Amino acid sequence: MSQAPLPFVFHPGTAPLLISMPHAGTHLPADIAARLTPEAREVHDTDWHMPQLYACAQALGASLLVATHSRYVIDLNRAPDGASLYPGQSVTGLCPVDSFASTTLYASVAQELAQQPLQATFTAGGLPMSVRTSNCGAWGWAAAGHQGYGYTRSDPLSGRPWPAMPTFLQQQAQALAAQAGYPGFDPDVCLINAYAVGAKMGLHHDADERDKTAPIVSVSLGLPCHFVWGGLQRSDPVRSLRLEHGDVLVWGGASRMVFHGVRPLPAGQHHLLGAERWNLTFRMAQRPYRG
Ligand code: SIN
Ligand code: FE2
Repeated sequence: MSQAPLPFVFHPGTAPLLISMPHAGTHLPADIAARLTPEAREVHDTDWHMPQLYACAQALGASLLVATHSRYVIDLNRAPDGASLYPGQSVTGLCPVDSFASTTLYASVAQELAQQPLQATFTAGGLPMSVRTSNCGAWGWAAAGHQGYGYTRSDPLSGRPWPAMPTFLQQQAQALAAQAGYPGFDPDVCLINAYAVGAKMGLHHDADERDKTAPIVSVSLGLPCHFVWGGLQRSDPVRSLRLEHGDVLVWGGASRMVFHGVRPLPAGQHHLLGAERWNLTFRMAQRPYRG
């Protein structure tokens, strides 16, 4: 395994002069790179070619302090406590989340939704559902009533393939499944369900995936909900679990076909998602599971 470089290299000189190049680095550790947007991975805000430009200073005896990591990872020209070094000016942070052009550096579910907006959904029988859905991945769950129902390669309404699942979501789902005892989980679907206040999902089980030995990985974001967890028969008694922002449920094995649903979403405000709850379910719809 290769050793991660230090965040900077120091070239000691002989003259009483230190030249610092805090923004010359381009290194992105793999786990951070996987979560950045493709544009951010191009590290546009780098001060390019600074070491070459100042190579003569070293020859004159100056000491050089040169960042190795991109300023998108850590900005060496920022106070460790986040205090502004340029009061009154808008600046990026110690570990920035935005570029100088104010574009977000980290990939997000919202960006996926910009490519494939949430849509109204219908049951197999054509009845309107209260959740709105979107997908990313090689497959997606289409619930557009008579226009399509079940797993499809493209959105039946637009005809366009579902957007690819971003690496940060794929890796997160793989890691969560592995932690729950399902190594080798490799989802080909991320179904995004959006619940406005009052929206619900009736009792059902997830039966359309080809290989039922693969688990379901479900991530809750935004407003808390009451998730209903039953048994293998629709008529089995149910219990209610409160799921909050960041909660993850993984079900598989003997529980894989358990009936579940969501009670009408109580009103509230979430600092990221406002009056909504988003649920991301990762599934292996068509791929065989070799866990
Ligand atoms: C689902 O069963 O597809 C969604 C469950 C949830 O929203 O938590
Ligand atoms: Fe489900």
